[in-house]
Amino acid sequence: MSGAKLKIALLYDVWNEDPAAAAAKEEAATVVRKPRKKVKTVKKEKTDREEIFEALQRLGHEPYYFELDGRPQSLHALSRCDADLIFNLTESFDGDDTKEMNVVAYVDLLGLRYTGAGPHAIILAQDKAIAKKIFAFHGIKTPFFATAYRGRIEHAHDISFPLIVKPSWEDGSIGIDAGAVVTNIKEMMERVEYIQDEFDSPALIEEFIEGRELYAGVLGSYERAQVLPLIELDLSRLPEGTPKIASYDVKFEKNTEAYKLTKSQVAEDLDEATMKRLSDTALAAYRALKLRDYGRIDMRLSPNGDVYVIEANPNPWLASRQEFAMAARASGLSYTEMIGAIIDLAMSRYLNASLASAAAMR
Ligand SMILES: Nc1ncnc2c1ncn2[C@@H]1O[C@H](COP(=O)(O)OP(=O)(O)O)[C@@H](O)[C@H]1O
Ligand SMILES: [Mg+2]
Repeated sequence: MSGAKLKIALLYDVWNEDPAAAAAKEEAATVVRKPRKKVKTVKKEKTDREEIFEALQRLGHEPYYFELDGRPQSLHALSRCDADLIFNLTESFDGDDTKEMNVVAYVDLLGLRYTGAGPHAIILAQDKAIAKKIFAFHGIKTPFFATAYRGRIEHAHDISFPLIVKPSWEDGSIGIDAGAVVTNIKEMMERVEYIQDEFDSPALIEEFIEGRELYAGVLGSYERAQVLPLIELDLSRLPEGTPKIASYDVKFEKNTEAYKLTKSQVAEDLDEATMKRLSDTALAAYRALKLRDYGRIDMRLSPNGDVYVIEANPNPWLASRQEFAMAARASGLSYTEMIGAIIDLAMSRYLNASLASAAAMR
């Protein structure tokens, strides 16, 4: 399979909040885009999709960009997509990240082949409260929690402070800043209100787990999924008094102190038994939510050695400097090999499905 040259559409989403600009864009729209020309002057960091595009070229495939711009026309164009495989990099539709699953479901409905999680897994993982209930069923430890929305409690363990309050359905540390960690009722209620007002989302109120922050990249599907070397986000240098969390600033805001003082690296000083517990937990969480091809499980290791799953990420960020690629590199895979592995995993899924249906016809 690795030898076959595939036409691969790199599917990604953009949105435009300015209606005038959106209208102008509508005029000029050609949905299937050629790779953008690079601007020579400023040395700009490559985006994940540019890195993946180049890796696909190195693998001998024929990649092209396919943009979903939030208009129905771009969905219509997708229905005519003739790629052999879609590399799915979408995270939202028209800026609404609760619609990530709809995009995947639509691609699925069209019968197109695509990389990464199916709609099922996206729904289960994106609704953190549902994911946590599934973890509990499988005996996977996750912080005790409650959910509150517009004065109604949907579920509540008997939780105790300190707590962290976050949107129950967001990603990329949206809504997670220093104020997210609360130590009394007043702070908690204010934060719940903020989450509801700002994100129109139920608030997930979780027990705050002190400890090390560890990420497990998982590559593969079902019984053959494998955990890559663990990555740790070192939050220890954050200033005294700042909660030790991967806030929005820590993840994205390059000019902040929080960003500069934190860094991810291959986890060190973990004994064999702890490493095994972390890896087994990650794999159990990956399977419980039906992730496939690749994913990342975010965990906390408490000082007494308990492993908690914070969340599962289907289709995690694949930029070469991000944790998943870092873990793949530590396992001996180059960036290009990592992308190749994802392509092979997705293609073999479809190949196996057609072999199975051919066998059933016999
Ligand atoms: N229960 C918790 N205990 C300790 N830290 C947490 C907890 N929940 C979230 N965090 C911190 O907040 C970060 C972002 O939370 P997460 O649920 O992973 O949101 P996102 O989906 O936006 O990445 C985590 O990486 C962790 O640092
Ligand atoms: Mg996370």
